[in-house]
Amino acid sequence: MLNLFEIHDWKIIEQEFNPSKQKQAESIFSIGNGSFGQRANFEEKYTGDTLQGSYVGGVYYPDKTRVGWWKNGYPEYFAKVLNSCNWIGINIEIDGEYLDIHQQEILSFRRELDMKSGTLSRRMRVRFKSGKEIEVESLRFCSMHDEQVAAIRFIVTPLNFSGNVKFTPYLDGNVMNHDSNYDEFFWEEDSHKVDVKKGFICSKTKKTNFIVSTAMRFSFWKNDDLLEIEPKNLSKAFYVENSFDYFLEEGNHYTLKKYVSIVSTINHSEGEVISKSIDNVRQAYMNGFDYLLKNHTSVWEEIWSKADIVIEGDLAAQQAIRFNIFQLYQTYTGKNDKLNIGPKGFTGEKYGGATYWDTEAYCLPFYLKTADPRVARQLLIYRYNQLDKAIENAQKLGFNRGAALYPMVTMNGEECHNEWEITFEEIHRNGAISFAIYNYIRHTGDVEYLEKYGRPVLVAIARFWAQRFNYSQAKNAYVMLGVTGPNEYENNVNNNWYTNYIARWCIEYSLKVDNSLEKTLGSVLNEEEKQHWKAIIENTYFPLLEGTNIFLQQDGFMDKEQLEVSDLSLNERPINQHWSWDRILRSIFIKQADVLQGLYLFEDHFEDQVIEDNFNFYEPKTVHESSLSPCVHVIIAAKIGNLSKAYELYLRTSRLDLDDYNHEADEGLHITSMAGTWMSIVEGMAGVRILEDGLKINPVIPECWTKYSFQILVKRNPIYISISKEGFQIENKGETSLNLEIAGQKTELKSNEKMNQSFLLKT
Ligand code: BGC
Repeated sequence: MLNLFEIHDWKIIEQEFNPSKQKQAESIFSIGNGSFGQRANFEEKYTGDTLQGSYVGGVYYPDKTRVGWWKNGYPEYFAKVLNSCNWIGINIEIDGEYLDIHQQEILSFRRELDMKSGTLSRRMRVRFKSGKEIEVESLRFCSMHDEQVAAIRFIVTPLNFSGNVKFTPYLDGNVMNHDSNYDEFFWEEDSHKVDVKKGFICSKTKKTNFIVSTAMRFSFWKNDDLLEIEPKNLSKAFYVENSFDYFLEEGNHYTLKKYVSIVSTINHSEGEVISKSIDNVRQAYMNGFDYLLKNHTSVWEEIWSKADIVIEGDLAAQQAIRFNIFQLYQTYTGKNDKLNIGPKGFTGEKYGGATYWDTEAYCLPFYLKTADPRVARQLLIYRYNQLDKAIENAQKLGFNRGAALYPMVTMNGEECHNEWEITFEEIHRNGAISFAIYNYIRHTGDVEYLEKYGRPVLVAIARFWAQRFNYSQAKNAYVMLGVTGPNEYENNVNNNWYTNYIARWCIEYSLKVDNSLEKTLGSVLNEEEKQHWKAIIENTYFPLLEGTNIFLQQDGFMDKEQLEVSDLSLNERPINQHWSWDRILRSIFIKQADVLQGLYLFEDHFEDQVIEDNFNFYEPKTVHESSLSPCVHVIIAAKIGNLSKAYELYLRTSRLDLDDYNHEADEGLHITSMAGTWMSIVEGMAGVRILEDGLKINPVIPECWTKYSFQILVKRNPIYISISKEGFQIENKGETSLNLEIAGQKTELKSNEKMNQSFLLKT
C-alpha cells in the first residue's frame, strides 16, 4: 500500500501539492473542536477540484424522503449535515491576479497537521503570471479551549519584488452542499453587518430553523509591528468582506490574523447568537493569536497525557493510532449533551452527521477508557433524552406498553435514514445501547446514573425485544424474524444469531438491573412481564451448524453458495462497487463482523475453542467493506493467537484513511471506526478486558513493535500499561486498589504500585 503522506510520529505531512489528491487531503487534514469542524480547504481562492466543508455540530437539514410506494414506518426525512458559512476565507490579489494555486506555478508546498498541538499549517512559494513570487505561511486551529472560536495566522512574504498586494478577509454564507438534490440551497439569511476590520453573518436553516452566527475580526502586521489600515467594507446577502491594498516590501513578512467565532442555537437562544459571536470574537481579538493558541495546545497536551498510545519500532503504526485518537477528540469532547459522533465527524457530508449505533458499539469504549467518565455519561444521556422519541418510533411500528426502538440514524431522536431496505430492520442497534449502559456501569459503578437514566432505557429496550420475539410452534422456541444483522449484505433474514443473542442478553440484563434496584426504588416491571421475559431467556432459538461449534449467522446461511473471499478476483472488489445489490444479498460474503461481533461482546460466555472455530469459519468469508469490521477481527485474532492476521487487519483499520484503502477518503474520514482502531490495540494486542470487579490483561506484541504503552481509566484509576518483547508492566496511578487477572491468576494492584510480568504467556 502506497503511503500518501509522509510517515512521522506526530504529524501528517504533504510535501508536494497534488491537485488530484486535494479532496483526500482536505479530509485528512481536517480540524475541529467537538463543536464545529473544517475541512482543509485553502483560505485563498482555489479553482481546482475541492469539497468545501465547514460543519457546525448538530445543525442539519431534513431532506424529504422520496419513495414511490410509501409504507408505514418509513422515515419522513433524511438528515443532511450542512456545509455552513465559509469562515476561513482570505483572498490575495497582486495586480488583479488572485492567488490561486490551481492557476499558478507552485515553487514549493508543504502542508502539515500537527496532532500534538492540533494545528494545520501550510507553507508554499508561488510564482504569479507576472513573475512575482510570494511565500505564504498559514496556521489555523479550531480552539479546543474556547469551543466557539477559531483563528488563522496568514503570512505573506514578497520574495522578489516590493509592491501592492490586496488582502481580502471575508465570511461567505452563500455555500452549497455537494449532496444537495437539485442544487437546493439550505440557508436563509437572518442578517449581516460589516464594519472596520470586522463583520458577521447570521443565517438560518430552512425547515429546522437553526440559527448560526459567524463573526470575524482581524489585525494586520508587518513583521512584529501592528499596522494601521483602512479597509474597504463590502456586504451583501450572506457575505461580508474587508479589503485593503498594502505596499509590501521585499523580504518582509506581512501577517493577517483572523479571529472567528461560530455560535448556534444548539447552545444559545435565538436572541443571543449574534451578540455572543461578536463578544467572543472581540475577546479572542483582545487575547491575541498566541494566547489563544497556547490555551488550545494545552488542552491537547492534557488529552494526550491521558489518551496517547506510544508504539516503538513501527512509525507507520504510531502515526496511524495518533491520527485516529486525534480525529476522535476533534469530533467529540463530551461538553454538550445535544451532540454526538457522526460516522464522518466534521470531515464530510456523507452519513449526514447523524448518530448511528457506531457511537455505543465503537466510540463509547474509547471515551470510557481515555476520558473523564462524564464524557461517556454524556453520550448515554443523549440516548436517555431521546427515549420518548424511541418509544414513539416503536409505537409507529405497532409496539406498545413503553417498548422503545431507537433509530438507526438520528439527529434528534427521530429516525432519519434514507436506505430503507438496509437500515430499517437493523434493530440490533437497540442492543448496542443497552450494552453500552452495562459497559459504562462496569467501568464506573455509577449507580446514580443507572437508577435515574439507565434503567428506564434498559427496560424500554427490553420491552421492545420481548415483543419482537415470537414463539415458534415449529421450533418450540422464541425466534426473531425479518431482521438485518450488522452484516448489511443480507436483509430480512430470520434468526440472525447476533440479534437474537444480544436481544436475549438485553432482557436478562434489564431484569437483573430491575431486581438490583427493587429493594431501594421498587420494581418497574409487573409479574406477568417478568415471567414472559424469563420464558424468552430460557428458550431463545439460536441457529447452529449441526455437529459443530459454529453459530449460524441466520437460518438460511448454509443454503448459500459456500465460497470464500479468496475465490473473488481482485477486480470484483470491493463487491459493493462491482456487483448488483441482488447478487450481494444472495452471496455468502459478509460486509462486517456479525456473529463475531457477538462473540467479541460476550466472549466470557464462550469457550476459547468456540470463538476460534467461529473466527476460522467467518473470517475467510468477510470482505470488510465496512470500516467497522477489521477491528473486531483484530481483537479476536489476537485473542486466539493469530497474530499475523491481527497485525494485518490492524494496519488496515488504523491506516484506512491515511492510505485510503477504500478509495473514499475524499468524501471524509471514518471517524467512528477510529475508535475501533484504538480498541484493536487496547483490547486486541494488549488483551485488556474490564471485569465487573477489576481488570484482565493478556497481551501480545506484533513482530515489528519493540514496545507499546498507554494509559486507561479503570474504576476511575489511571492504569499505565507498557508491553515489550520481554514482558509487561502495569502501574496503578490511582487512589484505590485494583483487582487484576493475569493468565487466569487473580491478584491485587494497590494504589501507586507497579507490577512486572515476564512473557511466559503468548508471544
Ligand atoms: C455500516 C454500519 C454503520 C454505518 C455508519 C455502514 O457501512 O454497515 O454498521 O453503522 O456504515 O458507519
